[in-house]
Amino acid sequence: MVEEAAEGGRLEATDPADLDPLRAAVSAVVDPELRRSLGELGMVRSVALAVDGTAQVAIALTVTGCPAADRIERDVRAAALSAPGVAAAAVVLETMTQDERQAMIERVRGERANRFGPGTLTRVIAVGSGKGGVGKSTVAANLAVALHQRGLRVGVMDLDVHGFSIPGLLGIAGERPTRVDALMMPPRALLGRGGDGIPAISIGMFLDGDEPVSWRGPMLHRTVEQFLADVWFGDLDVLVVDLPPGTGDAALSFGQLVPNAEFLLVTTPQPAAAEVAVRAGALARRLGQRLLGVVENMAGLPQPDGSVLELFGSGGGDATARRLSTHDDAVEVMARIPLSVPLRAGGDAGAPIATTEPGDPAAAAFRALAAAVVAAAPSRAGRSLL
Ligand SMILES: Nc1ncnc2c1ncn2[C@@H]1O[C@H](COP(=O)(O)OP(=O)(O)O)[C@@H](O)[C@H]1O
Ligand SMILES: [Mg+2]
Repeated sequence: MVEEAAEGGRLEATDPADLDPLRAAVSAVVDPELRRSLGELGMVRSVALAVDGTAQVAIALTVTGCPAADRIERDVRAAALSAPGVAAAAVVLETMTQDERQAMIERVRGERANRFGPGTLTRVIAVGSGKGGVGKSTVAANLAVALHQRGLRVGVMDLDVHGFSIPGLLGIAGERPTRVDALMMPPRALLGRGGDGIPAISIGMFLDGDEPVSWRGPMLHRTVEQFLADVWFGDLDVLVVDLPPGTGDAALSFGQLVPNAEFLLVTTPQPAAAEVAVRAGALARRLGQRLLGVVENMAGLPQPDGSVLELFGSGGGDATARRLSTHDDAVEVMARIPLSVPLRAGGDAGAPIATTEPGDPAAAAFRALAAAVVAAAPSRAGRSLL
């Protein structure tokens, strides 16, 4: 029971039930990045209220050095102070154990059948970026083609609602998936070779004409769930996912549904772009995804006289990798893709350079990226994945 003492307005807590309002206030605070309440996420470790009205709140963050830590601390303090009987608040930030983090992921993942969630035999590689226009889709499409050329079974999923460009890059613009009972069979990019080609699904395949895309969170979440459950890719070695830039709804839904994905971060050599790229990488890590590495795109263009034109400066890839590296998780620049006119033209024409201009330096860089991605396959329980 909380009682006001006759004098001094001191508060006394004698019954654990008295902590309920404080616990409720703190649990209702919303994690600014995961956009769920701390209660739902299991992040409130303990609450206590001292006789002098000082609340003690311990919050378990998903990872150490969580970028949202300051904001969470501030919001938790304000929420605690708003609870009846609280005169002061002390907030302690702790870090979740592996088990707690796993339980959190289960909680936010939802129930729907998910072909690419935890336990899948497919390596899921999510290609993300801090901002648009850095060549994220170009990297996703050409990495998929380079992996395919190594003989792997590769599929592509385009979740970029605002900038879906995978169908165009792979030369299947205008094609639609075929419905078979509850499943959708995605169109395939055949790339002028025999075989089954690369199955690819895109949000763009579900839009009529140029209708403006103003999908909100819940609708996006359902679409991502549907793509993961209902699109039939067959058995894949690798699924390459083109995420929208930044830390928006689709990236968040995807991260919650596929925490087992590996995150490949695309940025340009421009040092100023590093900060926003780092944020996207940090969110992926918070969602449990492994940071596979950084791809520096639009790197220097070799000139006929032997000099290198650095249109976007230099150092952005290294700066991004350095800032995302922690003492137990070194993040590296996996590839530098040079500026390339054939790469741009091939993208516009729906004819990836790996098939049309394999001698182009950018095509070579994508082959090197594919090799590095294969070499970085996580080993799992006595089984090599690729
Ligand atoms: N290395 C490169 N050299 C030349 N042009 C590039 C390169 N990478 C991407 N582009 C071009 O830049 C534009 C943006 O690329 P895109 O892959 O659509 O970016 P994002 O998906 O990040 O928005 C496209 O016209 C693309 O062809
Ligand atoms: Mg794109």
